Amino acid sequence: MRSPCSAIVACVLVLLLHCVNGEDPYRFFTWKITYGIIYPLGVKQQAILINGQFPGPQIDCVTNDNLIISVYNYLSEPFLMSWNGLQHRRNSWQDGVYGTNCPIPPGKNFTYMLQAKDQIGSFFYYPSLGFHKAAGAFGGIKIYSRPRIPVPFPFPAGDHTVLAGDWFKRSHRQLKLILDSGHNLPLPDGLLINGRGWNGYTFAVDQGKTYRFRVSNVGLTSSINFRIQGHTMKLVETEGSHTLQNTYTALDVHLGQSYSVLVTADQPAKDYYVVVSSRFTSPVLTTTAVLHYRNSFTKVSGPIPGGPTTQVDWSLNQARSIRWNLTASGPRPNPQGSYHYGMIKTARTIVLANSAPWINGKQRYAVNSVSFVPGDTPLKLADYFKIGGVFNLGSIPDQPSYGNGYLATSVMSADFRSFVEIVFQNWEDTVQSWHIDGHSFFVVGMDGGPWTPGSRSRYNLRDTVSRSTTQVYPRSWTAIYIALDNVGMWNIRSENWARQYLGQQFYLRVYSPSNSWRDEYPIPKNALLCGRALGHRTRPL
Ligand SMILES: *[C@@H]1O[C@H](CO)[C@@H](O)[C@H](O)[C@H]1NC(C)=O
Ligand SMILES: *[C@@H]1O[C@H](CO)[C@@H](O)[C@H](O)[C@H]1NC(C)=O
Repeated sequence: MRSPCSAIVACVLVLLLHCVNGEDPYRFFTWKITYGIIYPLGVKQQAILINGQFPGPQIDCVTNDNLIISVYNYLSEPFLMSWNGLQHRRNSWQDGVYGTNCPIPPGKNFTYMLQAKDQIGSFFYYPSLGFHKAAGAFGGIKIYSRPRIPVPFPFPAGDHTVLAGDWFKRSHRQLKLILDSGHNLPLPDGLLINGRGWNGYTFAVDQGKTYRFRVSNVGLTSSINFRIQGHTMKLVETEGSHTLQNTYTALDVHLGQSYSVLVTADQPAKDYYVVVSSRFTSPVLTTTAVLHYRNSFTKVSGPIPGGPTTQVDWSLNQARSIRWNLTASGPRPNPQGSYHYGMIKTARTIVLANSAPWINGKQRYAVNSVSFVPGDTPLKLADYFKIGGVFNLGSIPDQPSYGNGYLATSVMSADFRSFVEIVFQNWEDTVQSWHIDGHSFFVVGMDGGPWTPGSRSRYNLRDTVSRSTTQVYPRSWTAIYIALDNVGMWNIRSENWARQYLGQQFYLRVYSPSNSWRDEYPIPKNALLCGRALGHRTRPL
């Protein structure tokens, strides 16, 4: 129920900030961003907290809810929050990366106005500037289906968020300094589950009941594997797609990815290990949390169940087994498979090859040889105010040349409503994880070796999942189909935080000449201005 007070606030906000949809419910959040001390690996560290919490507060909402999130920056440095997997229909103004938004200066506040438009599923938010993500300030986002939309499984007895990932004892400043000085990061010091180290977090369950676990990899550099001692997991959702409900004993979750699994507490009453281990790393890092049966008096014991071997094949086969349930509904009542993505002709093929060039004596990372450097003004604002010299369209090629790496503020142009094939080609020995803001895409294929046009004959054009983050295995390719149905300036990036920080990212400008509110919302009146956008106006005189 909405209180009269929040309804009035909503109306005022609608008037003040031309809020996007007055019909749908509003949820209000006030977040105070501060430094704080945490000891997740037994060592004192400075963290970035939200309302005193690490990880930050959970966002629970329903499809189409408006989320009004006021962020107060009490840090001594600029800050921005971004939303992994939220699509921001027509509204890249709210994406919260430096290419779209000015940072919130120290001591200032900014109110994000998001809408979970036509979305369901499991996502997370994170701080996007510098290496803030290494200090926390991330949290889970659950978007529930609207009441009368059928969900393809019984309502679970509980819904647990699992924010897992690698962790460093060094501060975000120290890590940034290492990268700024031209070096790669060392191995992480450990893994955390919901901000805690070994057996530091407990998931309580009632024997016989079934629970949803929403697992996101919020780490910086490592793929992880998730499993629960003595229990199987039924996969039901990935980043907003209801999946075929396959059963797994262990699940690979690559950087930035989110999965929902159902776990039934159908074992003898005792406590069990919830295990997360790193993938494709040497050594393998492991941590555990506790699955506690409420009627248990027996602490966790026995060997910690081992993860899969480091072989890529196991992971690749699992990835291929994750498919869309064509008869389940998504955010709307119609079946997911009623959108026949495999029958649409692609208008363009973009091949993106990652590399790790040294440029000016420093380790950098690049896409099609271009290592991204931020402009002096957010690209979206430079575009809107027609400020020249910040970026050039076409500053990153559509195809790799495999030439020497160079620095640029790379922006690729694309037509609104075009249907595009993107191939991620990885010639490096490490697994990659790629994310596209503002969209979800169909992962039509992945395999070892070079992608060729002949690879298309093996695409899954029927029931692959639609998601916003995909892995690319070492010396392999992954191909996606994407409907560019969202006008804006959208970040395409490595979810490996060292790689994106050192240039493995660029922006895709999805452009419509119509200049209509139906395609893109106007600049918010509260938009922060900075760089060469200072002195411009967010509303007409
Ligand atoms: C947030 O910042 C704006 C602009 O700086 C200011 O007008 C507003 O009063 C601030 N809100 C609060 C509650 O402090
Ligand atoms: C797919 O969804 C339907 C509709 O909700 C459900 O009945 C069915 O069990 C699901 N199928 C699989 C294989 O997961």
